[in-house]
Amino acid sequence: MKKVLVATDKPFAAIAVKGIRQIVENAGFELLLLEKYTDPSDLIKAVEQADAMIVRSDLVTPEVIKAGKNLRIVVRAGAGYDNIDLPGATAANVIVMNTPGQNSNAVAELVFGMMVYQIRNQFNGASGTELLGKTLGLHAYGNVGKNVARIAKGFGMEVFAYDPFISAEIIAKDGVTPVADLQDLYSKCQFVSLHIPANDKTKKSITFELLSKMPKGAMLVNTARKEVVDEESLQRIFAGREDFRYVSDVAPDCLEVLKEKFPGRFFVTPKKMGAQTSEANVNAGLAAARQIVEFFENGNTMFKVN
Ligand code: 3PG
Repeated sequence: MKKVLVATDKPFAAIAVKGIRQIVENAGFELLLLEKYTDPSDLIKAVEQADAMIVRSDLVTPEVIKAGKNLRIVVRAGAGYDNIDLPGATAANVIVMNTPGQNSNAVAELVFGMMVYQIRNQFNGASGTELLGKTLGLHAYGNVGKNVARIAKGFGMEVFAYDPFISAEIIAKDGVTPVADLQDLYSKCQFVSLHIPANDKTKKSITFELLSKMPKGAMLVNTARKEVVDEESLQRIFAGREDFRYVSDVAPDCLEVLKEKFPGRFFVTPKKMGAQTSEANVNAGLAAARQIVEFFENGNTMFKVN
């Protein structure tokens, strides 16, 4: 009997686990559950028995891949797979998939939650500002960016997007203005929201040079990955521009410096919260379970990323 391990340091909502269990057991497989583990060795031990594994941002290191002697497939229930050792998985003939789009509305809603919280001075009683009529730049126009654009229109924002992989026609069809380069995006937009993955090309790519182009009242919104922002640049822009604000779904490494020098001008979530809704957990978790069943039953490798 095939064993499907759900390994989530940050657990799914109970309703999602129930749905995953149903899909796995209906297919005649067994579900193994490892939640809220504190030591990477717990994951290494659990994967020893697994034929398939569902993870979130859990670190699937070379050691984990090596320990998974029977492992055939890992599905990242979510979008970004920078937490998975892809070369190691490929070398071990382990298929890696993600579940694109399944948690993107949840992440997009958090963008607005954080923006409103910050422009209203973290609800401290001081008079704030509004989003209506302001410019918003989407740095990448994938599933999350598209949802952010949809919601931004409800707020009456003017939306621009830069994405070298999506045609200007597709962006324009959504009522979003495509821009040809990043300099232009950052120059035009008071708010910029990051929707790029973390990879060798994008890590530390949000630099002082880009940020300093932003108009007065600038706010950078990061629901992507902390690694894409160059933290020296971040500290430099904070120091040089009184008007600059940063909201991020997960803390930068320089959090203590920000706390000490720039209190009230930034907000970070204590744990990555973008996809942490029961709807997103159900969407991504059940999609992951279905993809595993489809793979074993029909050899379907749609959504393979390695
Ligand atoms: C993703 O890449 O899908 C998001 O960052 C969500 O990550 P999480 O599943 O760890 O919350």
